[in-house]
Amino acid sequence: MTTIAVLGAGKIGEALLSGVLAAGRNPDDLMLTERYPERAAQLEKNYGVRAVDTATAARQADVLVIAVKPQDIEPLLAELAELIDARTLVISLCAGLPTALYERRLPEGVPVVRVMPNTPMLVGEAMSVISAGSHASEAHLAVAEELLGSVGKVLRVAETQQDAVTALSGSGPAYFFYLVEAMIDAGILLGLPRPMVTELITQSAAGAARMLRDSGEHPVSLREAVTSPGGTTIMAIRELENHGVRAALIAAIEAARDRSVQLGRAHED
Ligand SMILES: NC(=O)c1ccc[n+]([C@@H]2O[C@H](COP(=O)([O-])OP(=O)(O)OC[C@H]3O[C@@H](n4cnc5c(N)ncnc54)[C@H](OP(=O)(O)O)[C@@H]3O)[C@@H](O)[C@H]2O)c1
Repeated sequence: MTTIAVLGAGKIGEALLSGVLAAGRNPDDLMLTERYPERAAQLEKNYGVRAVDTATAARQADVLVIAVKPQDIEPLLAELAELIDARTLVISLCAGLPTALYERRLPEGVPVVRVMPNTPMLVGEAMSVISAGSHASEAHLAVAEELLGSVGKVLRVAETQQDAVTALSGSGPAYFFYLVEAMIDAGILLGLPRPMVTELITQSAAGAARMLRDSGEHPVSLREAVTSPGGTTIMAIRELENHGVRAALIAAIEAARDRSVQLGRAHED
């Protein structure tokens, strides 16, 4: 049985633990580390997963899931470098950190899989994208895929595509929240009460998302189905085009990709 330790059980680390437990994994096969003892004790109590120190996790686990903030990575890698060898699989959830950084800091041959998850992991609906480092095999990717599969969907991509993925699905939920926020403002402008508007828009967003995912239809045909000749929707679409919303989204996502590239460079030696 594979033993998995989540190093840094913050928001994302806790979401992953809760997802893998819900998927049926035995809590005895899991471990976590946390900086604050009170939080560690609370997590231990809530999930029945052992809270340990980094050295114990590194010695006993087959898989180390790194879920600390990117700025906390260097001291953790320095500690792990003394503790692990090529038998331990490292799965990094840290946004923007290349597998090459881990490979430089950790002993020769340690397999690393880089993951870009997103916040819907908190509700078991993550879009996670995984890439193999130079020592990670098909079997290592399969381990990462199974783990992340318990909290949402998983796709494999080349690591060179990770910056684009970060801009699309990593930051993606924020764009949808922003859109919903703007639509709620519109409802307020039209004079409807805020709780009612929030419910109208949130349920429309959830329904539209489900149709997109489950119908297999192209977004254009789904939109055309609600856009009747001379009707209300086409009037709104014309305004969206007049205000350059499509171009704004393309530019916004390109800017996010550029920022991801820039942040990644901060970790080049
Ligand atoms: N949240 C997202 O939307 C999202 C999306 C994609 C990827 N990620 C990635 O997921 C990672 C975690 O993000 P998060 O939002 O979950 O952050 P977070 O809530 O701050 O969680 C990180 C946790 O790790 C703890 N920690 C730091 N160094 C540690 C160490 N050496 N040993 C044990 N615990 C340690 C932190 O403790 P302290 O509280 O003391 O700092 C904190 O509780 C980040 O690298 C981020 O890039 C997050």
